Amino acid sequence: MTDYIPGFGNHVSTEAVAGALPIGRNSPQRPAFGLYAEQLSGTAFTAPRHENRRSWLYRMRPTAEHPAYQPYDGAVRFARETGDAPLAPNRLRWDPVAPIRSDVDLIDGMTTMLVNRDPGDLEGVAIHVYAAAKDMTNRVFVDADGELLLVPQEGRLELLTELGRIVVAPGQIALIPRGVKFRALLPDGSAKGYAAENYGALFRLPDLGPIGANGLANPRDFETPVAWYEDCDEPVEVVQKYMGSLWSMTLDHSPLDVVAWHGNLAPWRYDLSRFNTINSVSFDHPDPSIFTVLTSPSDVPGRANADFVIFPPRWMVAEDTFRPPWFHRNVMSEAMGLITGAYDAKAEGFRPGGISLHNLMSGHGPDVASWQGASAAALKPHKIDGTMAFMLESCWPYRPTTFAQEHAQLDYDAVWNDFPKAILS
Ligand SMILES: [Fe+2]
Repeated sequence: MTDYIPGFGNHVSTEAVAGALPIGRNSPQRPAFGLYAEQLSGTAFTAPRHENRRSWLYRMRPTAEHPAYQPYDGAVRFARETGDAPLAPNRLRWDPVAPIRSDVDLIDGMTTMLVNRDPGDLEGVAIHVYAAAKDMTNRVFVDADGELLLVPQEGRLELLTELGRIVVAPGQIALIPRGVKFRALLPDGSAKGYAAENYGALFRLPDLGPIGANGLANPRDFETPVAWYEDCDEPVEVVQKYMGSLWSMTLDHSPLDVVAWHGNLAPWRYDLSRFNTINSVSFDHPDPSIFTVLTSPSDVPGRANADFVIFPPRWMVAEDTFRPPWFHRNVMSEAMGLITGAYDAKAEGFRPGGISLHNLMSGHGPDVASWQGASAAALKPHKIDGTMAFMLESCWPYRPTTFAQEHAQLDYDAVWNDFPKAILS
């Protein structure tokens, strides 16, 4: 039996115990084994059929059985404030964030860096980094504010979720739907990476237009786990992110007790090396939207609440072209991270684990060294290799948290100093 089912957003039926999954109805009068039927909705009940996402869970105890949540203060940098200061039009960049302590798990090891919109708006995205060195044992996390896209940078994560187990390594990404409880183990002893939290419309694969029926991220390369459960009657703490704050309560059992489920709302993982990269074979290069893996649309057609875009290994063959990303100003706001290698528009200062932010209308592009190199390069076919950067582009300008403001690089503007003036005569 395989541990994963291929496909994106497809309707899955899976059971960890034979006979646990009802046939022909979602909520029979008496589900098998005394299981409880529970619907988990990722979209409104009345969302159009092609956008409608929901799953039915068959579990040992209903989620409804729990005590009141209390404020949780164990994660000192997670879900922190952005402050009330006016948002400056400055470009910002960060070195990898130092771990909080050597004994924190994924949740207490989260540092919130950038946030736009309020979770209650059901729009916007937040970007966190994590550095963890401890398994989550006897506690789980659940994000009610949005779906959580995990982007490992060092060390694997084993994600034990209500709907199954996923192992995700650097170079892969994983998504936990809004409201799905999980805990993270660290098979390599420690782990670092990024977490993007999408408050808005669910991530989907972008339309392909003239590209055709194939290309970019192909649906069959997404992997959804099969049903799995743990039968544990020990106390388990549940930490929940809700409306931008953290809360906790303790159950007398593990809530990872879903024995069977069916539906099209589920966690998945995706290997970024399977992205079919498309680009110019003549001159110039397309906008970076050509690298979109996932998009969360806003209410304005073509304007994303969040696009998850990657800059993978690829051949550069365009003639008479400045090949790195050009100078530009964008109505969208761009936050970037680097999983491995070097990004082709920055010679130094943007390190794996770091972040850069170019908000709405901020002028940016290659630094002086990259501009000089690309302007003088012989334009032979060239492969950019050994690198993987990503961008979370949003129509909502990002606000750095107070922590991020206090830890930004001090000299980022200087990478655009000393460009020679064009000589007109
Ligand atoms: Fe940009």
